[in-house]
Amino acid sequence: MNTWVYSTAEVLAGETAKRLAEYVQANPGKLLCLAAGDTPLQAYGHLADFHRDGRIDLNAMWFVGLDEWVGIGYETPGSCRQVMFDGFYDRAGIDHSRILAFDGRNPDIDGQCMAVSRWIAEKGVIGLTVLGIGMNGHVGFNEPGSLADDTVRIVPLDATTTSVGQKYFPGGVVPTRGITVGMRELLAANQILMMASGNRKAPIVQRALSAEVTPEIPASLLRANGTLTVLLDEAAAGNTLF
Ligand code: F6R
Repeated sequence: MNTWVYSTAEVLAGETAKRLAEYVQANPGKLLCLAAGDTPLQAYGHLADFHRDGRIDLNAMWFVGLDEWVGIGYETPGSCRQVMFDGFYDRAGIDHSRILAFDGRNPDIDGQCMAVSRWIAEKGVIGLTVLGIGMNGHVGFNEPGSLADDTVRIVPLDATTTSVGQKYFPGGVVPTRGITVGMRELLAANQILMMASGNRKAPIVQRALSAEVTPEIPASLLRANGTLTVLLDEAAAGNTLF
């Protein structure tokens, strides 16, 4: 595991975008599995700008959405779909045929899980995944209790996730189920980047990276992937010495 600590969230975003751009240049044709949420958005914005400037070609890559809130579609601000299409895919101008993302409004959840599994299998493996970390240690919607072998699936959301989730849906009802790429597909990725920023994340980052590896903190399971790179701002690194 490599851990990098940057002074601010802005520097973290800039450095993450540079790493992603280098990956894209060196690995055309690979599959990227990208988290939504607040943490990586600024980095995705830079990456979209690099593509628009002609410095990288994102249309040479494949994309799979990491997760979605069940029952919530693109039309709802806060959906992973809207966050990712408006904040990244369409901002960059990525051809939609290169992207498979869950649609929370599509009632055929099993069909979507199968389609995402097939999409990943067709591309061989996830080349690189960008993950955030939940306040309960979740990655994607792999909630506490998730096992390293869990695959693409629907999951009941943890109370912490629904409570923290209110930040994405101000005044709205927070869904109680999620669909997610599983720990198995994430752990098999060629490279994992996990990002965290802000002092609220410091305690869970510390537990995920320095305490025991346990399904109760799904992010800790990522330590089994030798290429795990953790990208933090100083606030999220807290007092932990990396
Ligand atoms: C979102 C996702 C979640 C978030 C995590 C952190 O697609 O997969 O696991 O990465 O909840 O969210 P933020 O970045 O909003 O703190």
